Amino acid sequence: MKKLIIGAAALILSAGAFTLINTQAEAAVQTLQSLAAAKGKYFGSATDNPELSDTAYTAILGGGEFGQTTPGNAMKWDSTEPSQNSFSYTKGDAVVSFAQAHNMTVRGHTLLWHNQLPGWVSALPATQLQAAMENHIANVATHFKGKVFAWDVVNEPFNEDGTFRTSPFNNAMGSDYIAIALRAARAADPTAKLYINDYNTDGQGAKADGMYNLVKSLKAAGVPIDGVGFQGHLAIQYGFPTNMQANLQRFADLGVDVAITELDVRMVLPRDSTKDATQATYYSNVVKACVAVTRCVGITIWDYTDKYSWIPSVFSGQGAALPWDDSLVKKPTAYNAIAVALGGTAESASPTPSRSTSSSPPPAGACAATYKITGSWPGGFQGEVSVTGSKPGWTVKWAFANGQTISQLWGGTVSQSGANVTVTPASWNNTPPATFGFLASWNGTNAVPTVTCA
Ligand code: XIL
Repeated sequence: MKKLIIGAAALILSAGAFTLINTQAEAAVQTLQSLAAAKGKYFGSATDNPELSDTAYTAILGGGEFGQTTPGNAMKWDSTEPSQNSFSYTKGDAVVSFAQAHNMTVRGHTLLWHNQLPGWVSALPATQLQAAMENHIANVATHFKGKVFAWDVVNEPFNEDGTFRTSPFNNAMGSDYIAIALRAARAADPTAKLYINDYNTDGQGAKADGMYNLVKSLKAAGVPIDGVGFQGHLAIQYGFPTNMQANLQRFADLGVDVAITELDVRMVLPRDSTKDATQATYYSNVVKACVAVTRCVGITIWDYTDKYSWIPSVFSGQGAALPWDDSLVKKPTAYNAIAVALGGTAESASPTPSRSTSSSPPPAGACAATYKITGSWPGGFQGEVSVTGSKPGWTVKWAFANGQTISQLWGGTVSQSGANVTVTPASWNNTPPATFGFLASWNGTNAVPTVTCA
């Protein structure tokens, strides 16, 4: 804490230009991927072929925030083997090429799933299913060998109560299909990490117990299983998963890696600041859980922008699930929550007219104020308010939305009661144009308040 105050004091004493340079330097090095990498993990985003032709989208996807990608659809069975023994890798290859060109690794998703399964598979007699499954896995995993570091070999094998889901594979082979699939994947690609991936297993409960017992028995039987994927499709209206960190840890303790593979946090639309703030805490909690578990190798969000999220098409009336909005603009709430949970600093909101009071010339006798965040670090920030107007004497007020608390203010006298802040001028600072500065604490979100001046 002492160190932070000393650092802040240095900022105050230094010229404004120094603060700017410092902020820019930080912006250049801090990305979600660089923060995750500093913790020995990756931070990734899923992507899909149609959006790879959206250049504004790809500029962000490949621009350094993400060190990993997962194809949202390109490697699923209906895409890779639409008719029996006729393989198509064009879409998967396109995702791999994009990733390779932008320094991103690829998780293969997925060799076996009851959805997006071509009709010919479900129509096969049970006696032919195992051979078809092994052939599919052998071909697809061989094609992408060396290009994917991990495979979701089996996707979503469980019912909510922890029993095995009915599927053509389960019907034909019983739950042994999982071990057979894992062995086939290992034979085709001995180096890829082999995962089982599911949703609603993020917290402790019957479904997670089913997964836990399966992994334990696979390990005991010497079946190749390297990791468990926790999809992380969360919704703020259903509450945060129970004991997520402990849940991840108990899997890690079985001797497998764990990963958050498809994170998104949806809400009932429309979006508002309260829902955004709750969503930010979910993102933060997931990231913190992964950071706290050494064998949690990384986090993938299920695409990064609401523009291409799968949520609205599947969960009617819900959406706004990702850290970038549908105009490809970062949501300061969700994005900063992730960055801070990864050990980074929150990005200051840039002072745009919609985020700070107007600085247009005030009417005679009135005054106006503009609020700026000039520097920010974990837990603290420095702010500056400029007052313009024609009348000596002013009172500036605002209400903090996120529990920020002022610890020190210069150029004026401050009183803060709960969220409400009132500042009056020091005697030498009575006549506009006047500026005052302050230091304050913040956590999670640091929204720029609307400031009034009278
Ligand atoms: C989703 C894709 O994002 C959509 O484009 C597609 O229409 C349906 O599948 N769990 C998974 C993912 O494992 O493969 C799903 O992806 C989302 C739920």
